[in-house]
Amino acid sequence: MSGGGRRRRSDHTWTTGLFSIIMFSFAELAEQFAGKFDTKHFPDSLPSLYQPAEYFLSMGGKRVRPVICLMGNELFDTIQPDAWNVAHAVELFHNFTLIHDDIMDKAPLRRGKPTVHVKYGEPTALLAGDVMIVAAYDYLSKINTVHLPGIMHLFNKTAREVCEGQQLDMDFEKRERITLDEYMQMVTLKTSVLLAASVQMGAMLGGSGEGNQEHLYAFGKNLGIAFQLQDDYLDAFGDPEKFGKQPGGDIMANKKTFLTIQALETATPVQQKELLYLMKENPPGKVERVLQIFRDCKVDQWAKDLKDKYLGLALRHLEDTAVTGSRKQPLEELALFLVQREY
Ligand code: IPE
Ligand code: IPE
Ligand code: MG
Ligand code: MG
Ligand code: MG
Repeated sequence: MSGGGRRRRSDHTWTTGLFSIIMFSFAELAEQFAGKFDTKHFPDSLPSLYQPAEYFLSMGGKRVRPVICLMGNELFDTIQPDAWNVAHAVELFHNFTLIHDDIMDKAPLRRGKPTVHVKYGEPTALLAGDVMIVAAYDYLSKINTVHLPGIMHLFNKTAREVCEGQQLDMDFEKRERITLDEYMQMVTLKTSVLLAASVQMGAMLGGSGEGNQEHLYAFGKNLGIAFQLQDDYLDAFGDPEKFGKQPGGDIMANKKTFLTIQALETATPVQQKELLYLMKENPPGKVERVLQIFRDCKVDQWAKDLKDKYLGLALRHLEDTAVTGSRKQPLEELALFLVQREY
C-alpha cells in the first residue's frame, strides 16, 4: 500500500483514513510499459526474420494486456519486478497471436499498417510469430521460482485455449449459422481468457488469495467478452481512419459474429434469404449490403445492450474482490475504456 509521502504523477488520488492511495492510470501504465518494452527484442543476426518481428512490435497497440496485469498486481501492493516480466510475456504472446491471426483472417491492415504476411510473405510471418512466443517464454523463465509453476500453468492453459478459440472461429466461417452460446464460447477462448489470465497473474504475483484471484479472473473474462463484442462491432461499423484494420473484414470472411447471429435471428424471411445468399456467393457490394441488413435489423442497439450486460458482470466481480474500493478505480476506468474504444 502506498503511503501519502510517496510521489507519483497520477491524478488518481483517493484518501482512505491516514493514507492517500495513489494508483497509476491506464495511460500512465501504458507509458511506463512502453518505456521498457519499446526496445529491440531480437538480434541483428538474421534481418530477414527479425526485422519483420521488430516491424510488427514497433506498430505499438493499446497494451491492454500488460496494463491489466500491472493493475492486477498494483491492486495488492506496489508493482513487483516479476509483474513486469509477465507484462512483457503477455504482450509478446498477444503480438504472436495477431501475426498468425492476420494470416488466418487474410487481413491486409493492422494498426493502420500493412500486416506482416502482406509485407514479408506468409512463411516469414509464421516464423516472426514463432520467435515472438519464444521471447515471451524467455521473460516467463525469469520469474521467481516461488511463483513460476503457478504462472506457467495458467499461461500455458491460456495459450492452448486461445488456439482452440481461433480454430473454432475458423470452423464457424464455414457454417451457415451458429448459436449465441457457441459464439460466446468461441470469443471466451480466443480473446477473454488472455485478459482474464493477465489480471490474475498480476494478482498472483501481488500475493492475492485464491478467492480474489477467482473474482479477478471472472472480471477479466467478462470484460474480454465485452471487448470482443466491441471489436466485432467496430469491424462492421467503426471509423476506418481510427480503427486501423480493414473495414468489413469480418463480413468478407463470413465470420460468425454476434452481428450476424442477431441479424439472422430478427430478419424477415426476405432479409434472411438475402443475407445467406450474400454469405454464400460473395457478390460485388457484399459488405455494404450486409451492413444495410445489420442496420435494418437494428443490431446496433442490441450490441450496446449485450456489451453493457458483460461489462456489468465484470464490474460485479471487481466489486466482490476484497480490496479497498479506491484501489480498484484504475481497473474500473480501464474496463470503461475498453468497451467504448474506437480502435
Ligand atoms: C486485437 O486486440 C485482437 C482482439 C482480441 C480483438 P487489441 O485490440 O488489444 O490489439 P492491439 O494490441 O491494441 O493492436
Ligand atoms: C482475434 O480476433 C483473436 C486473437 C488474435 C487471438 P479477431 O480476428 O477479431 O481480431 P482482429 O479483429 O483481427 O484484431
Ligand atoms: Mg483477425
Ligand atoms: Mg481472427
Ligand atoms: Mg476483430
